[in-house]
Amino acid sequence: MAQVCVVGAGYVGLTTASCMAQIGHTVIGIDVDSAKIEALNKGIIPIVEDGLEAITQQMLATHRLTFQLGYSEAISSCEFIFLCVPTPQDEDGSADLTYIRESAKSLSPYLASNSVIVNKSTVPVGSTLVVEDIVRREDIFVVSNPEFLREGSAVHDFLHPDRIVVGSSNKQAAQRVADLYQSIDAPVIICDPASAETIKYAANAFLATKLSFANAIAALCEHVGANIDDVMQGIGQDKRIGNQFLKPGPGWGGSCFPKDTRALVKIAESAGYDFELLRGVIDFNEIQFDRIVNKVRSAVGGNLAGKNISVLGLTFKAHTNDLRDSPALRIVEHLKSHGATINAYDPTVNESLHGINIYKTAIEACASGDAILIATEWPEFASLSPDDVSQVVQSKHIIDARNILNANLWKAAGFTYQGVGR
Ligand code: UDX
Ligand code: UDX
Repeated sequence: MAQVCVVGAGYVGLTTASCMAQIGHTVIGIDVDSAKIEALNKGIIPIVEDGLEAITQQMLATHRLTFQLGYSEAISSCEFIFLCVPTPQDEDGSADLTYIRESAKSLSPYLASNSVIVNKSTVPVGSTLVVEDIVRREDIFVVSNPEFLREGSAVHDFLHPDRIVVGSSNKQAAQRVADLYQSIDAPVIICDPASAETIKYAANAFLATKLSFANAIAALCEHVGANIDDVMQGIGQDKRIGNQFLKPGPGWGGSCFPKDTRALVKIAESAGYDFELLRGVIDFNEIQFDRIVNKVRSAVGGNLAGKNISVLGLTFKAHTNDLRDSPALRIVEHLKSHGATINAYDPTVNESLHGINIYKTAIEACASGDAILIATEWPEFASLSPDDVSQVVQSKHIIDARNILNANLWKAAGFTYQGVGR
């Protein structure tokens, strides 16, 4: 098996490092954050990822995985160096490659001849050339191997991928990277770098498009008196459509979709193509946030000023502790800008958030609420007792932006209920 270095120990890098060790390689994880490295070497991981803590601790115990601060000659023993550093969104929407450039520059002096740099981070089309340009060595290869990890199921998605994509102008280098995954049963697509980089963006853009379509159909259902659950079941049985990613919600968010969709529009624009369809998908997602705010506003009689709004769920989706680009926080900002007071609860959020009152339980967050908004689909919210909640609220209105409640149960307890497309 191979000696692998993973640069960046965040949601993507930590999963990559631990799972690469799990499938038999010897891995050095690198990060510039000393507190993170110290915690990781004690087996303490800062993120919520099903199964990741156990694998990380196991791999540390067998010395197949170690973490170190910064760059050193230990890298010279590695044949593959995965870049899992952030590619944040610039204000104009384009992907900021600062960290990719910095890590490539810092790696250069230590790279063994014939080693392969692997772009795991989501990088704009053409980024392998950017790294090649910095490293400038004929005996070093740069390969694109995009990640398709969903937060909350990253370990599962790494070990059971739908496909492995490897892009390189050097076929041998591509095959060497593909061979790292030989113990994983999945189709391998080997192509040129630009195609591999485009696959990643196109996949996320399509998923975001599917979600904006689902949210638009939910709006239509509300106007024509149809039920989104039945409609989505009805179209999802068509195998060409598939029954996943059809759940309407507050809009899509997270550290990937908003960043990657905007970056793809910019990539297209700078290549001379106006990706109008994707711009529409992004614009519609902003409208979805407004639609949820309007539901809350109408529940409290048309004026949010001075109202107590209880918000259940702040993360961008359930089973993660990630607040990055969370739709819940976007909607909270809209509500606050109209004068509402926000009393919130989320099972993974205990630090105070600017201008939001954080409570330790859902019931406490609902106390003296003028309306309750379910913004993230944490399972515990589906089992809330309408009668218990009735005891503490100021008035009985609930907006279920994730369609996880039994509407009849809440209506029977005297609540007005608004779902999305229901
Ligand atoms: C991020 C993006 O979300 C993802 O789209 C992209 O594919 C990879 O980068 P993520 O793991 O979520 O992935 O980022 P984050 O959780 O912020 O972790 C990045 C880590 O890299 C941090 O621990 C940071 O300290 C570290 N880092 C950053 C470096 O080690 N070196 C750098 O130069 C910059
Ligand atoms: C996504 C892609 O799924 C993954 O392949 C890629 O590597 C990174 O980006 P992630 O951002 O972790 O993964 O979240 P995902 O589970 O895809 O959800 C994205 C957003 O869509 C969330 O806000 C989620 O709440 C929303 N969503 C998802 C819906 O509103 N309805 C659905 O049916 C599914």
